[in-house]
Amino acid sequence: MPMSHEASGSLLHVRRVTREFGGVRALDGVDLSVAPGEQLCIIGPNGCGKTTLFNVITAQLPPTRGEVAFEGRVLAGLAPHHIARLGIARKFQVPSVFEDLTVAENLEVACFGLAASPQRPAAATLLEQIQLSDRADVLAGRLPHGARQWLEIGMLLAQAPRLLLLDEPTAGMTGAETLATAALVRRLAQDAGTAVVVVEHDMRFVQALDARVVVMLAGRVVADGRFDEVRRLPQVRDAYLGAHA
Ligand SMILES: Nc1ncnc2c1ncn2[C@@H]1O[C@H](COP(=O)(O)OP(=O)(O)OP(=O)(O)O)[C@@H](O)[C@H]1O
Ligand SMILES: [Mg+2]
Repeated sequence: MPMSHEASGSLLHVRRVTREFGGVRALDGVDLSVAPGEQLCIIGPNGCGKTTLFNVITAQLPPTRGEVAFEGRVLAGLAPHHIARLGIARKFQVPSVFEDLTVAENLEVACFGLAASPQRPAAATLLEQIQLSDRADVLAGRLPHGARQWLEIGMLLAQAPRLLLLDEPTAGMTGAETLATAALVRRLAQDAGTAVVVVEHDMRFVQALDARVVVMLAGRVVADGRFDEVRRLPQVRDAYLGAHA
């Protein structure tokens, strides 16, 4: 595997990535680095390439041009399970909890399914991280929507990922659940040093996380900075934030 030294210090390095689908250029020369333990939100209008970027990062889609490196290793051509073993976890929108098992049992299953590794967290630690200790014995099928999403995140944390990718995790959540999700993401960085990249439409979440924000428009990164800086940019207000700015 080619190693990259220019990316030293960064965990994930997306370099000049373009992805075309026929005549559609979904990603157009995207450069993006994520440091270990960093949190960032990717925002941008429908169809600007956010999910495609996740698909390229996880090697589900090869880039048309450019490359993605994780811990200095170029990811081209690796199978999804290999990517997961390297330390990249991704939450999909499809529900993946076992409804007839309790919260604790779901986490135990997630931990059990993995080869023993020294970094692997215990189910009890995961319960605390997702703040469901008081609902450990509740059947997952009976959890409200927000808590179910947190359980899914907890199951991904069983892999002890270095990078967690969340695509619109707060969709369908109440305001309180959305804020609790921002707090959960912050704790992951603080407690476990997990880097988290969140694609998010909900500005309450972005504001509450108060982290780095990357703005995409038509397949390009058009702004990259702290939320407070980025929200003031006219192209961001006009194109995306609208009345929320
Ligand atoms: N597998 C595919 N085949 C063809 N075109 C695709 C494919 N995946 C994405 N696209 C196109 O690429 C562009 C970017 O789509 P993408 O899903 O990445 O946007 P997005 O920013 O995630 O949008 P949303 O906010 O609606 O989730 C769109 O024009 C989309 O139609
Ligand atoms: Mg999307």
